[in-house]
Amino acid sequence: MNDMLQPDWDPKSDVVLRDQLAAYDEMRERCPVAYSDFLGWSLFRHEDVVRVLNDHETFSNAVSRHLSVPDGMDPPEHTEYRRIVESYFRPELMEAFEPQFRDIAANLVQSLLERHEVELIDEFAHRFAVRAQCTFLGWPTEMHEPLRLWTQNNHQATFAEDRAAMAKIAREFEGYVDEMLQVRRAAGAQASDDITARLLRQLVGDRPLRNAEIVSILRNWTVGEVGTISAAIGILVHYLAEHGDLQQRLRDRPSLLPAAIEEILRIHGPLLANRRIATHAVEIGGRTIAAGERVSLLWTSANRDGGVFEDPEAFRLDRDPAANLLYGAGIHVCPGAPLARLEMRVVMEELLARTTRIQPTAGTPPTGAVYPASGFATLSLRIR
Ligand code: HEM
Repeated sequence: MNDMLQPDWDPKSDVVLRDQLAAYDEMRERCPVAYSDFLGWSLFRHEDVVRVLNDHETFSNAVSRHLSVPDGMDPPEHTEYRRIVESYFRPELMEAFEPQFRDIAANLVQSLLERHEVELIDEFAHRFAVRAQCTFLGWPTEMHEPLRLWTQNNHQATFAEDRAAMAKIAREFEGYVDEMLQVRRAAGAQASDDITARLLRQLVGDRPLRNAEIVSILRNWTVGEVGTISAAIGILVHYLAEHGDLQQRLRDRPSLLPAAIEEILRIHGPLLANRRIATHAVEIGGRTIAAGERVSLLWTSANRDGGVFEDPEAFRLDRDPAANLLYGAGIHVCPGAPLARLEMRVVMEELLARTTRIQPTAGTPPTGAVYPASGFATLSLRIR
């Protein structure tokens, strides 16, 4: 926090929380580099966000004193851990999960069809994201519910800036991971050959990963997956419910889904922001950011910047995919993107193939999620 600076906006005000997209659009026009005590310097413009992504020497990822592998690291440390993390998302490893993700999606769609009206976020989006994540990690079904509640509590504590709650939540996750590791250590050579067991054998340099490093990697993957995938599913299904023609076009031609998913999520991003810290004083958009000050990259705003995306709210399949910052860019670009793309393609394929019509319900409008979540808190739909 900088006591000398007057806040340009309040990211926690009712008007921002009521409609985050509209509020960020307004800020991008009015004050594209804006200070607030909660987020530090928020960057709303595409060009400013890209500038930060391409200059990791000025804008460091060492934003917290807690270990965060590899998110909170800078090169050269980041490079080695990043190489390790990427190796867990190779395309051939991802493909092996497709049948299981398809089963999870098909079962959940079936349960939606049994009801006249559904609340998609709780009954479908969260459940799919948590089940897919447990499948990916090799964790048992008993972990579904604790993980779902853990993600919710984690979001609430982040919004409330409640350090004591955040520390408790971190210990809770550590407890889950310890249990998962213990089962595998105890089983020795008989342990299931899943991703969690593989992390136990993973070397960094010439030593195995430390327990705290495994906990951090798994926490970042879980936060990376559960929050964004459930928000993304809500956003995608809401968009298609509101745009019946596109819904039918994608049902008829599912091969368009991968590109359509990225374009819908450009218009309405599932991940709001990530942080950096300035290593020396730097000027952006006429504002001076002092050494040690925090910078927030507002993905959802940068991806709606009319200077880069003509008519930014229009859905177009012929845009330049390289400009889309859905998964970031530069050395911290999302390593989980192959998993995210697979999960979203499969869940949307199953949902569209097993239904004939998805519609908003009259009289029950969706409610928006609040920071740090994007998308919807509730979404009522009629699904046939
Ligand atoms: C739709 C889903 C997802 C979106 C939109 C998304 C978006 C992003 C973005 C924008 C970044 C860059 C952050 C930065 O520059 O500070 C990032 C990084 C990261 N994501 Fe994702 N992500 C998604 C899913 C996932 C999944 C499924 C995983 C893992 C299971 C994951 C793991 C990570 C990790 C570990 C990083 C940090 C990488 C680094 O610092 O080198 N993400 N993600």
